Parts: sequence; structure tokens; C-alpha cells
Amino acid sequence: MSSAIDRVLISSAQIQHRIREMAAEIESDYPDGPLYLVSILKGAFIFLADLARAMERPSVRIEFMGISSYGNAKTTSGQVKVTRDLDVNIEGHDVLIVEDIIDSGVTLNYLKRVLEQRRPKSLEIATLLDKPDRRIQPVYVKYVGFQIPDEFVVGYGLDYAEDYRNLSDIRVLSEP
Ligand code: IMP
Ligand code: MG
Repeated sequence: MSSAIDRVLISSAQIQHRIREMAAEIESDYPDGPLYLVSILKGAFIFLADLARAMERPSVRIEFMGISSYGNAKTTSGQVKVTRDLDVNIEGHDVLIVEDIIDSGVTLNYLKRVLEQRRPKSLEIATLLDKPDRRIQPVYVKYVGFQIPDEFVVGYGLDYAEDYRNLSDIRVLSEP
């Protein structure tokens, strides 16, 4: 690997603490019925696993979607496509999209429109990270773990060209 990973922006302990807070808030907002966590592959897989385990409500349904808008670049191509669709019907259900990071907002804007058409009972977004300075399409996000500055981060599921997803903290990538 030729890239250099620099400083830790958010430590593993900080992430876990914040996830417990988010899970408690989510659980109090959805007191009953099944809750569908729709996670976007691949970046959100670790956040999803920790968020789901921080909840104690009995019915948490785990679903995956694949969306791509980046390829191997560090900025959005602006082109979004579904690479793997849900295999359940979400009509009439509470759905929470679980995402790793919101950058331009293009991905979630698109996904929200796609899922809204399937008439869920409710549809909200939980993201671990938010880079508000980079937004080019507005999107309402109900649950945000951390707002971060405009820097490219890796670790805890987030990659650069498919590397670094395994790191347990969130780090700033200094030299691509
Ligand atoms: P958006 O459509 O620009 O909001 O892009 C969101 C997607 O871009 C995320 O799901 C990530 O896959 C990717 N992304 C955006 N910023 C970063 C970053 O700092 N590190 C790693 N991936 C990122
Ligand atoms: Mg992603």
C-alpha cells in the first residue's frame, strides 16, 4: 500500500460511546414493531453491526443494499446506481437507512427517493459521519454520530480504493 494513514480523528472508544447513545435514541423513537435497518454496502457494515448490537428491542431486521457513486475515486462521480437491491418488501414498515458517511448527499438523496416509492410506514437515516461542508444535495438526516471537517477519512468500514476498512478507529488519510 502506498498511502499514508495519519492521525486518529475518532477513536474506537469514542465511536462505541456515541453508538450506544444513538441506539438509545433510536429505540425510544421506535417503541414497537419491527425496525428494518437497511444498510448500504460496503462501508456501513461495521457501524450496522455495532448499532444493531447496541439495541435491545426484539425485532431488528437486517437488510443490505448496494449503491455505488464513487468507483475508486475520492470524490463523487455524481452517478449513482443500485448494485444490489433489497430482497424484502418494506411497504408499511419502519425503515432506517444505516450509512457510514454523508458527503455530497447524492447517494442518500437518490436512495431516499427509491425507497420512498415503496411506501414504507416511515423512512429515516442514521449516519455515523457527516461532512456538512461538502453537501451539494440537501438531505435530512435524523441521526448523526459525528460531524467531521472536510477531510478524507478511512477505517471502521470506510475505505480508500477498498483498503483500510478493517481499522477500528476513524483516521484521516493524508497522502493518497
Ligand atoms: P455522497 O453521495 O457524496 O454523500 O457519498 C457518500 C459515500 O461516499 C459514502 O457512502 C462513502 O462510501 C463515500 N465517502 C464519502 N466521503 C468519504 C470519506 O471521507 N472516506 C471514505 N469514503 C467516503
Ligand atoms: Mg458507503
